Amino acid sequence: SVIKSSLIEPDGGVLVDLAVPESEREAKTVEAESLPKVRLTKIDVEWLHVIGEGWASPLEGFMREAEYLQSLHFNSLRLKGGSFVNMSLPIVLAIDDETKEIIGSSFDVGLVRPDGDLIAILRSIQIYKHNKEERIARTWGTTAPGLPYVEEVITPAGNWLIGGDLEVLKPIKYNDGLDHYRLSPKQLRQEFDRRKADAVFAFQLRNPVHNGHALLMNDTRRRLLEMGFKNPILLLHPLGGFTKADDVPLDVRMEQHSKVLEGGVLDPETTIVAIFPSPMHYAGPTEVQWHAKARINAGANFYIVGRDPAGMGHPTEKRDLYDPDHGKKVLSMAPGLEKLNILPFRVAAYDTVAKKMSFFDPSRAKEFLFISGTKMRTYARTGENPPDGFMCPGGWEVLVKYYESLQPE
Ligand code: ADX
Repeated sequence: SVIKSSLIEPDGGVLVDLAVPESEREAKTVEAESLPKVRLTKIDVEWLHVIGEGWASPLEGFMREAEYLQSLHFNSLRLKGGSFVNMSLPIVLAIDDETKEIIGSSFDVGLVRPDGDLIAILRSIQIYKHNKEERIARTWGTTAPGLPYVEEVITPAGNWLIGGDLEVLKPIKYNDGLDHYRLSPKQLRQEFDRRKADAVFAFQLRNPVHNGHALLMNDTRRRLLEMGFKNPILLLHPLGGFTKADDVPLDVRMEQHSKVLEGGVLDPETTIVAIFPSPMHYAGPTEVQWHAKARINAGANFYIVGRDPAGMGHPTEKRDLYDPDHGKKVLSMAPGLEKLNILPFRVAAYDTVAKKMSFFDPSRAKEFLFISGTKMRTYARTGENPPDGFMCPGGWEVLVKYYESLQPE
């Protein structure tokens, strides 16, 4: 019998799945061999993974110019019927002059992983100009030098973008021991249904979980139960694609997260931990819309947002790049995300009187301690423990081990 899912509808109505059916794989792979090839970077593969599994539904391939311009200028995509969905980051594939030359007037191209593995076909392609300055300025609101994604991805990329319909020939694997955490939106939806979730609340993160993060998640659960939900499930959803050099690497974070669950800070019975395959832009209020939109596709109808989501320090000045409150404000008003319940949170910090992480109270500001990534690193380097109640000991141990491994010989 067909179990009707009570989960939120995918964005645009239908969950995109661009995997070529098993029965057609061989023939299409043979066809792909005969096409001009585009060699992907590691980060292109991450985006291909994102599109192929439907995280960007209803997007069905790398953006053509019309989609690119809508995303860049309206942060949204208009659908055939006239309605629109939120799409705040352009998902594009860059090629250089030489590749453009090789493609010539072909309608379709094969997409090849950095190691040479042919993994996809891009159909009915369109090639258009990659105006990097405009893309950077509109996505980040600045062209200041030192933006990690710009330096790593956009600056070295070619001067052309190639869009088209994507067909994925084989599942994207990373063989890093973490593939079992990489659940697709379809798999996550099946799991939420299997667990009979009546609400799904998502937590995006790219940092180790401290008790301040846990406070947001546990407070959300309490509020959902108060609202009358019987079985709210938490999607603890660390970002698994590109992150900047001084962020904690994915494998260390995954180990840290499992210690947090073992330590009882989060309840394993009502939590699903999975990896979100997207790369990170660090584009603040613009990017947080993408983070939220993608989780609708995975079945989440509640989305937690706190201080300075997708933010970072300004690359050339001593301040945050974005106003730390703008992420949650923008997300709460974002066109196309009305169906998602946004749960905005105040900043949490270490309360030196209560000796635990609490929501910051400005009336006794002096009693709070803000423990940044840099500060955690200093603790670890000097062998000092962070104050009691900041993070569960098992999780902290994982970080100490990691930071120690970074020390110069
Ligand atoms: S993000 O780039 O994934 O947004 P991070 O992993 O630091 O960064 O944060 C994950 C989520 O926790 C975001 O919603 C962020 O706003 C929130 N958050 C992080 N630190 C705090 C804090 N001290 N107080 C409140 N919210 C926080």
